Amino acid sequence: MYKGAAVVFDRSGDGLLKAARLQSLNKDMQKLVNEFYKDDVRLVYGGGDPDSRIVLVGEAPGKHEIIQNKPFVGQAGKNLDEFIAILGINKEDLYITNTVKLRPYKTNPDTGREANRTPTTAEIRFFADFLKSELSIVHPELVVSLGNIALRSITGDEAATIGLLHGIPIDIEYSTINFKLFPLYHPASIIYRRELRHVYIEDLQKLKAYIKEQGLVH
Ligand code: URA
Repeated sequence: MYKGAAVVFDRSGDGLLKAARLQSLNKDMQKLVNEFYKDDVRLVYGGGDPDSRIVLVGEAPGKHEIIQNKPFVGQAGKNLDEFIAILGINKEDLYITNTVKLRPYKTNPDTGREANRTPTTAEIRFFADFLKSELSIVHPELVVSLGNIALRSITGDEAATIGLLHGIPIDIEYSTINFKLFPLYHPASIIYRRELRHVYIEDLQKLKAYIKEQGLVH
């Protein structure tokens, strides 16, 4: 169990202080990853406005995210941009991170090519405490999880499924903070399952109304 992260207990509104705490957390995380994996594993940390009242949590970085060292810059990022536009908010006003900070991939033995894969339960568990610490530092009022992996890590329920819980706000209580979790399908799943698109748009409209009602953006 990871215990080294700095945790903030109250909403300071001080983005600089939060940025410093996040930096220290990221350093701790990289150190532990290097020790654990005994390899030079590149991580993609969360980014955006650490003072945001809304946090988006994805699954894990892919190839493009590793190259650009930023979450959601590949095709899934393009889809995400489209959905953020539907919400009528600026991406820069959000804090965006991933459940797993390394790129899970497999290598095709015939071609040697690397392909993304779903994170393993061990990987999700490895990063779960870091995600908790990260969310405790940013201290949002609303967390939007994208897909099953983020939903399971944040709720602590490894059997939770987005097919049942999408669009339903859930109260989450961590030991240090409380927030509302709004589960959405992962934007990449809309690429492969076109039939989900209308459900996704409906969920986004609900989310938009919730954000407006709570006055979470200006
Ligand atoms: N890119 C990310 O950073 N996260 C995802 O979940 C998918 C693509």
